[in-house]
Amino acid sequence: MNNKLIELKNKCEKCEKCSLCKTRTNIVFSSGIENSKLMLIGEAPGYWEDKKGEPFVGKAGQLLDKIFNCVGLSREKDVYICNTIKCRPPENRNPLPEEKNACREYLDAQIEILKPKIILICGRVALNSMIPDASGITKVRGKWFDGPYNSKMMPIFHPSYLLRNDSREVGSPKWLMWQDIKEIKKVYDNLI
Ligand code: URA
Repeated sequence: MNNKLIELKNKCEKCEKCSLCKTRTNIVFSSGIENSKLMLIGEAPGYWEDKKGEPFVGKAGQLLDKIFNCVGLSREKDVYICNTIKCRPPENRNPLPEEKNACREYLDAQIEILKPKIILICGRVALNSMIPDASGITKVRGKWFDGPYNSKMMPIFHPSYLLRNDSREVGSPKWLMWQDIKEIKKVYDNLI
């Protein structure tokens, strides 16, 4: 791992900036490769992520893998995955503003070190963090926004939302995700 990322991860491991440090088993820093052009920002670690110290390892993560695989992207080789906060909120509640604020410097530093070309903003909580004045996720998903360090950012549905919505009919959340991932792959393939 890049030295700066190692230092940052070590800092997170010792972090006591909010009360989530008292209940965490592990911090969940990231997965994937550090020179990836594609970064995905999720919400917060859940039960399994906290146990394993890795993002998106539960059911939502398995669906995320399938979504990337559908267009020939591999989570291990092509995508750097992290979350808006690095520690699990008890009972998987939404992160509180003070928790997001306390953790923000780590997310900003990950973006600064990696300088990804494409940032996928996964779900409502990540959208609120990254584009606070955007309308709801259903309105802005699939749209490109200008991101930090000349990146392009796209909000996408969270896989947990897709797990609760089974339909694949035209216009359904799963169908919309399929359109979005195809568009993302098209832009990804054209990156220099
Ligand atoms: N959901 C998220 O948003 N992030 C994870 O790491 C796991 C589930």
